[in-house]
Amino acid sequence: MCGIVGYVGKRKALPILLNSLKALEYRGYDSSGIAYIKDNKINIIKKEGKIKNLEKFLNVDEDTFIGIGHTRWATHGVPNETNAHPHRVGKITLVHNGIIENYEELRSKLKKDGYKFVSETDTEVVSAQVDSIYKKNNDMIKTLDEVKDILEGTYALGIICDDDPNNIYAIRKDSPLIIGKKDDEYFIASDVPAILTYTKDYYLLEKDEVAVLNNKVTFYLNNKEIEKELKSFEGDASSVSKCGYEHFMMKEMMEEPDVLHKTVEKMKQEKFSLKKYKSIDIIACGSAYHTGLVGKYLIENYADIKVDVHIASEYRYSKLFKKDKNLVIVISQSGETADTLAALKLAKDNNMDTLGIVNVKESSIARNADFVIYTEAGPEIAVATTKAYLSQVTTLSMLALKTALDKKLITKNKYDEVIKEFNVGALKIEKLLHYDYSKIANYIKDKNDLFYLGRGLDYALAMEGSLKLKEISYLHSEAYASGELKHGTISLIEEGTPVISVMVDNNIISKSISNNKEVKSRGGYVICITNSEIPKDSYDEVITVPNINDFVNPILALIPMQMISYYVAKARGCDIDKPKNLAKSVTVE
Ligand code: F6R
Repeated sequence: MCGIVGYVGKRKALPILLNSLKALEYRGYDSSGIAYIKDNKINIIKKEGKIKNLEKFLNVDEDTFIGIGHTRWATHGVPNETNAHPHRVGKITLVHNGIIENYEELRSKLKKDGYKFVSETDTEVVSAQVDSIYKKNNDMIKTLDEVKDILEGTYALGIICDDDPNNIYAIRKDSPLIIGKKDDEYFIASDVPAILTYTKDYYLLEKDEVAVLNNKVTFYLNNKEIEKELKSFEGDASSVSKCGYEHFMMKEMMEEPDVLHKTVEKMKQEKFSLKKYKSIDIIACGSAYHTGLVGKYLIENYADIKVDVHIASEYRYSKLFKKDKNLVIVISQSGETADTLAALKLAKDNNMDTLGIVNVKESSIARNADFVIYTEAGPEIAVATTKAYLSQVTTLSMLALKTALDKKLITKNKYDEVIKEFNVGALKIEKLLHYDYSKIANYIKDKNDLFYLGRGLDYALAMEGSLKLKEISYLHSEAYASGELKHGTISLIEEGTPVISVMVDNNIISKSISNNKEVKSRGGYVICITNSEIPKDSYDEVITVPNINDFVNPILALIPMQMISYYVAKARGCDIDKPKNLAKSVTVE
């Protein structure tokens, strides 16, 4: 989603703004822009497409020491120069992350007051709205305090006012915004990676708070000055660099053995137990939703608790039933996903206990849930999630395992054995990461369609494999429950259609073998990911993964799926870390 940056200090601002914007590229965007002050005058440069298009039009040596920048992920209006931010109206120039829901109504009122609009965006309306209030009171702090009661929807804003060319103003409602500090230099950013080259120290702006940055920072809430705590980011700049890998996605997959190990060690100490709950609702989006499906299988089978898994954007509009001793678990890497956050708020409004499983520390979901368990993935930059997904699955597996022990459904010996086997799993992942996937990737790369098949737990995994492939390689892929194929979709199987069959759930493998044969006899090219001996006539290619236990097996099956997606995307020349149209942190509904 959109990314905001800003700098005020003694260094030249443009190289810093560009560098910070580049560090936010992972969030996904389709245009970018910068506004800076030179000789007390505002200059705005905006371009469609990648930041390098913008860079060509900037003189980085310009004597400017204050500016704001933006990467836009189009919501209102096509990605073009006019719709790109910053938007300037009257004396106000601003950048925005979020969506203003009442912008049409505000635009009509502002038009009656004589404002003219050139873009299709909700953001230009915000600039006009701020300008119109500022005209009345000539005081930016008061203005922003009034604006927050007028704007409906989500926003974080970085603002420069013509009358204060030495100040950057910032305000946020639901979209994240941090204020970085390095001695007497200050930064604004949507996320910590944007400023890590310069500083690890930052303030987290909270809902409705206003910050004024110059050679110091002052915070306000409801027009009154407040104190805020300076925080320090725990990782280092290398955690957001590629460390020699061609893509973040590959670097992040290579970290998976370590992430597995860290997650298990952390979960061994975790006090939160599912024991007192009779039922659980897991709510999430995309890949995080798929981890919920794997979690359901393990929690139901080992901790004996009924689990329903919901897509967050659907849960919000479904009828909620009062359930006794029910827990709502929301899962999110970014902790900012708008639909998941809204579902969490809904659950809380209905007095349900809520647990957030979140990767980004102090994100909105982490701060809003009653209980939080942080996943141990570290910063994830590639848009397609890999190591965070693995850490989410492991967190849920460990919750299932520990609850089974608490409820005496398994012995302490069994618990210890599974913990040891997680460590064996980490070593096995290393091997799977270095398997040669080139033959399979080359086979798939020129095809138009692919099907992923699985049954039970394997179906949940197939859904994730299919999403990973289509999102980064743009090759059409669908996941099907193996048994459901013959009820319609099998008509799409043609000579050579690639079908990846996931078969690591030992209880149901024989049924999946028959389904594979049905596909093969219709010309399909079957690639199996399995931990069992399967008949040679049931596949064309096989990737054998180790068979360890129900907790570790799903994690092992995941690695070939992620790697195949990566190599197919690479062979198709795709922008692996920043797939088109996608965003890392989906802060709109
Ligand atoms: C796919 C992917 C997305 C996210 C989804 C939820 O690779 O990354 O499907 O899983 O957008 O995001 P978070 O986990 O940040 O709530």
